[in-house]
Amino acid sequence: MGLRQIDHGSKEYRQMVSLRNKVLREPLGLKFSQEELDKEKDDIHIAAFEDDELLGCCILSRVDKQTFRLRQMAVLENNQHKGIGASLLNYVENIARDRGATKIMMHSRATAVGFYSKMGYKLYGEPFMELGIPHRFMQKVINTFNHDLS
Ligand SMILES: CC(C)(COP(=O)(O)OP(=O)(O)OC[C@H]1O[C@@H](n2cnc3c(N)ncnc32)[C@H](O)[C@@H]1OP(=O)(O)O)[C@@H](O)C(=O)NCCC(=O)NCCS
Repeated sequence: MGLRQIDHGSKEYRQMVSLRNKVLREPLGLKFSQEELDKEKDDIHIAAFEDDELLGCCILSRVDKQTFRLRQMAVLENNQHKGIGASLLNYVENIARDRGATKIMMHSRATAVGFYSKMGYKLYGEPFMELGIPHRFMQKVINTFNHDLS
């Protein structure tokens, strides 16, 4: 399996949107609109491929100098629980560190909290609803050396 950064609007990006619709949106009766996709042109799109087959993906969005937000983490159902999500997370944490960030935050689906907890992410704040399902705020300090603790 190989992990790589994908250009917004490319053929691989369209594969990612299709996987994201399948894993994240269709089970909720939803689909990405062109307007939503246009808004993510400045984001960092990461994909896990086995040959030409896309197995999983996620997105990093810059929040501020210190922080990236992880979004759209999804692994094809048949390939879940094989370590692909963990590899994607390790990869994006390195990208975020390389770009000078000290933490990654996210809105985690309640069903995925156990996964992120295993990867060192901590819960904060109260549960909330998004896309009609329960979510939790989570974050991880990825660079303690530069992290502003004040
Ligand atoms: C959540 C998701 C991204 C995890 O990816 P994955 O490739 O299946 O995860 P991994 O195989 O790398 O799992 C890493 C560890 O987390 C555990 N884990 C995976 N999914 C979990 C879950 N939903 N709850 C609790 N633990 C979980 C694994 O058992 C594994 O533990 P181990 O190291 O002790 O064996 C994937 O299951 C998925 O796409 N789910 C549906 C979409 C979704 O909910 N996305 C997250 C939106 S916030």
